[in-house]
Order: sequence, then C-alpha cells, then structure tokens
Amino acid sequence: MRICIIGFGAVGQGVARVISMKRDKVREKYGLDMELVAVTDSTGAAVSEEGLDPDLLLETKKKTGKVSEYPEHGVSDISGLEVMNEVEYDCLVEVTPTNIEDGEPARTHILAAFRAGKDVVTSNKGPLALSYSELIAEAESNSVQFKFEASVGGAMPILNFAHETLAGCDINSVFGILNGTTNFILSRMAKEGSSYEQTLNEAQQLGIAETNPAQDVDGIDAACKVVILANSILGRDVSFKDVEINGISKITPEAIYLAKKEGYLIKLIGEVSNEALEVSPRLVREGSPFAVGGTLNVATLKTDLAEDVTVVGKGAGSVETASAILSDIISVWKSRR
Ligand SMILES: NC(=O)c1ccc[n+]([C@@H]2O[C@H](COP(=O)([O-])OP(=O)(O)OC[C@H]3O[C@@H](n4cnc5c(N)ncnc54)[C@H](OP(=O)(O)O)[C@@H]3O)[C@@H](O)[C@H]2O)c1
Repeated sequence: MRICIIGFGAVGQGVARVISMKRDKVREKYGLDMELVAVTDSTGAAVSEEGLDPDLLLETKKKTGKVSEYPEHGVSDISGLEVMNEVEYDCLVEVTPTNIEDGEPARTHILAAFRAGKDVVTSNKGPLALSYSELIAEAESNSVQFKFEASVGGAMPILNFAHETLAGCDINSVFGILNGTTNFILSRMAKEGSSYEQTLNEAQQLGIAETNPAQDVDGIDAACKVVILANSILGRDVSFKDVEINGISKITPEAIYLAKKEGYLIKLIGEVSNEALEVSPRLVREGSPFAVGGTLNVATLKTDLAEDVTVVGKGAGSVETASAILSDIISVWKSRR
C-alpha cells in the first residue's frame, strides 16, 4: 500500500516511527506492505515512488525541521494538495493541525483524496466536527474507505470498538473524559489543592498544555470528539455548533475540596445521547471508572445487550496516537482485499 502523509508533526512522525517499527510484522501477519511514497509538512515534501526511509525522514525532520531536506527526494515550496495531485498513492494519512473555524486545510485534502478514489485515515477532528455528513457521503459516493479512530481519544479504542466489537448492540449513550490536558489539571488540583491558574502554568511547563490552552480548557477539543461520537456511534446528524460547552477555567480549589469531602471528583465530561450533546464539569464518584488521573481518557458506552462497557487509554502522544492510525491502515487494507 502506497501511503502519503500530509503533516509531519507529533502524529505524522509517530506514524513514520510505527511503520519503521512494525513494517515487517505487518507484512508477515497481514500481507500488507506499507510504503511511504510522500510526506509533507508546512514547508515542502519528500517524494519517492520507490519509497522513503521512515528513519531517515525522522532524522531529517529532527535535524533541519523540514522534510524537504530529505536527501535527493526533497521538494521545497510545494503544498500538500499539489503533492497529492502529482504522486501515485493508495491511502492518505491526513495529520495536519485541527482547525475548528473551517476545517482547513484538512477538509480540502480529504475531499480531494476521496474524489481521486483514495482511502483516507485521519486523526484530524476539525473537518469531522464541522462537516461529518458531507465527508461520509463523499467517501461513500466514491466507494473509498474513511477511518478516523485516532480523532477521538488518541490510543483509547472507541469508534472501531463500538462498530466492530459491540456490533450487535444498540449504543444509547457515551459518557467520558475526552481531553487529557483538562484531566491532568483537575487531577492535579484535587491532589495538591492548587489553583487553576497555577496548575495550568505547571501543565504548560510540562508540555501537557499548549501555550494557548483555549482548545483544551474551554472544552472545544472535547466538544469536537462529542460531535464525532454522536455522528459515528449514535447515528446522529450534528455539528460543532450543536454542542453545549462549558470549560474548566472557573473551577476553584474550594469547589474541588467540597466535592472531595462528599466522595466526589470534578471532571470535564463529554456526554452524548439522543437527548444530550454536552461538555461540562461534572461530579464523578471517587472509585468509579471516571476517577482516572493524569492525561488518561475514559469513556463508558451504555448498550442494550452488554450494559455498560468502559474503555480507557492514552488520549494523546505521538506513537500512541499513531497506533490507532496503523490499526485503521490495516483495516483499510483488509477491507480492500
Ligand atoms: N498530538 C496528539 O497526541 C494528537 C492526538 C489525537 C489527535 N491529534 C490530531 O492530529 C492532528 C495532528 O496533530 P499533531 O500533534 O501531529 O500536530 P502538530 O505537531 O502541530 O503537527 C502538524 C503538522 O502539520 C504540518 N502542517 C501544517 N499546515 C500544513 C499544511 N497546510 N500542509 C501540510 N502540512 C501542514 C506542520 O508542518 P511543520 O512541521 O512545518 O510545522 C506539522 O508537521 C491534529 O489535527 C490533532 O488535533 C493529535
């Protein structure tokens, strides 16, 4: 399978790393030969029909900051879309930054790939949170595969788990911690009794929160995931604007202390059902599956046959998120065969 990666940041590099680590095993186990034929970042691309060396790509990006510096096969000042138009590939891995204003440039990349008859795997929440039904319809009308497990909860298995492992169940709701940064902040505030501002600062110093933390602390990131879960698992037809969102910036150490005294923790919870589409701070019982600390994500799916099923895992991380992308690539391959 010829793979084109658009975006070579934390996740794109994680994909190169897992391809390097797992290529032989995947070939042996599934008969799938993964070949990286093009990789782009914001400055250019590395392109080779014979295949790029994932380790050399990682080394080049680390040393120079640009994939276009890849020996002999680097091209500067070329856009992702131009690369997609010029290179023969089978599967697009779209891992550019999430943009919740208009979903670009990912939306254009994904639609162009569909119209060219290519399968797409992505971790990008922007286009899914804004244009879910349009993207699914376009993938269907072009008879291509569209997979996005990594867009919700990184390495925490949830979308494919719901569709495949729980295939016979009706899933009535999903309730969970869908953002690792806010979980880190709230867990730390509960443990240390520290203020929101102080803990956010600490999270920023540790590289867990972004310099501009709004997407996480204002609940925007979790709201994108709520939209994807609602559309993909509950079959709703909703968009980002339909989510009621409250972030964590007004949570005080006093509120956390009072909750704790009664045996509760405060967590930023995403809730999806036929009635609810919401992100807000909620009380969860200490000792419940939602009492996870650090940057973990957790979600409970309420089903008719299996009752409650809870999944937990790393919501972010380069190789962790790439593990979900690799699993989608394998799944695309299996369906094609
Ligand atoms: N990080 C995680 O753990 C995680 C987990 C789940 C989902 N996600 C989602 O996965 C996606 C990628 O995340 P990330 O953490 O890898 O982001 P990132 O580290 O910011 O990397 C983004 C990459 O996209 C490149 N890029 C930006 N604009 C581009 C354009 N127009 N054309 C081609 N490349 C472009 C950047 O180029 P430069 O390198 O030149 O700047 C960079 O290589 C995001 O949508 C994010 O929400 C991330």
